Amino acid sequence: MALVTTDIDFLRSTIAQRSGNVISADHSYLLESRLAPVAQSAGLADVRALVAELRTDAQTLLHDKVTEAMTINETSFFRDIQPFDALKDHVLPDLVEKRASMRSLSIWSGASSSGQEAYSIAIAIRTYFPQLNDWSVRILGTDLSQEMVQRTVDGVYSQFEVNRGLPASLLVRSFDRKGLNWQVKPELRGLVEARKMNLTENWSTVAQHDVVFLRNVLIYFDVKIKERILKRVHQSMRPGGYLFLGGGETLIQLNVPFERVTIGKTVCFRPVSK
Ligand SMILES: C[S@@+](CC[C@H](N)C(=O)[O-])C[C@H]1O[C@@H](n2cnc3c(N)ncnc32)[C@H](O)[C@@H]1O
Repeated sequence: MALVTTDIDFLRSTIAQRSGNVISADHSYLLESRLAPVAQSAGLADVRALVAELRTDAQTLLHDKVTEAMTINETSFFRDIQPFDALKDHVLPDLVEKRASMRSLSIWSGASSSGQEAYSIAIAIRTYFPQLNDWSVRILGTDLSQEMVQRTVDGVYSQFEVNRGLPASLLVRSFDRKGLNWQVKPELRGLVEARKMNLTENWSTVAQHDVVFLRNVLIYFDVKIKERILKRVHQSMRPGGYLFLGGGETLIQLNVPFERVTIGKTVCFRPVSK
């Protein structure tokens, strides 16, 4: 049976409450197609039966599955190359100098989807910064979706996925063949810690980072949630750090303690004291 308006409203508000993601009326049609497999794997007849089940309890694994099924996980290696050029040509050289006494670097890819962003950073570090080999380098990749976190841990990508954004020289150097797929080399996987984390919840356990990639996720939130997340990101950054957002994302009209700077062909944001 097809979803009725009250079911659609219920699902949209459940998803917004749990992940901050706003499903626009235009995208409501996705509810049916994306949630049908969730209903099926829960042994329910259809998405209407799934809604009925969700209505019986506010906090179940099924709610998580529904919320995660509605996330958009589009990503690729070295997506929108300019931030990675800025990382390689300006940000890392600056941090190598500034953190020389600590000999430690921490980079966070918040909303890292299936891990291509975190591994692009790891590949750039190991390819272009041999002087960091004996530093403590930590790259944290977090995402709302457990399935995406597991994909990051596995580090296995299809031929199609590695063809998107990864130069052949870096592919050969950084991956091993795994059947028809490619797996990130163990040494690079060891640099990346993947963890489930909801940006709209409290994250008292995230350490202080030198660089934060928070790209192509703020677009799914309303202004209030964006501001709350960015204020927490600010608290999770070391002074002198760098924040990268997605190409279409801006802090204009947001009351948050960052200044916009142009680096190479891209812009990034630096924490200012409040
Ligand atoms: C479009 S992908 C962006 C991936 C990567 N940052 C990039 O730019 O290629 C958006 C990711 O945000 C995640 N996401 C959505 N809402 C979230 C939330 N509340 N907390 C954490 N991650 C979230 C989704 O699961 C999805 O993997």
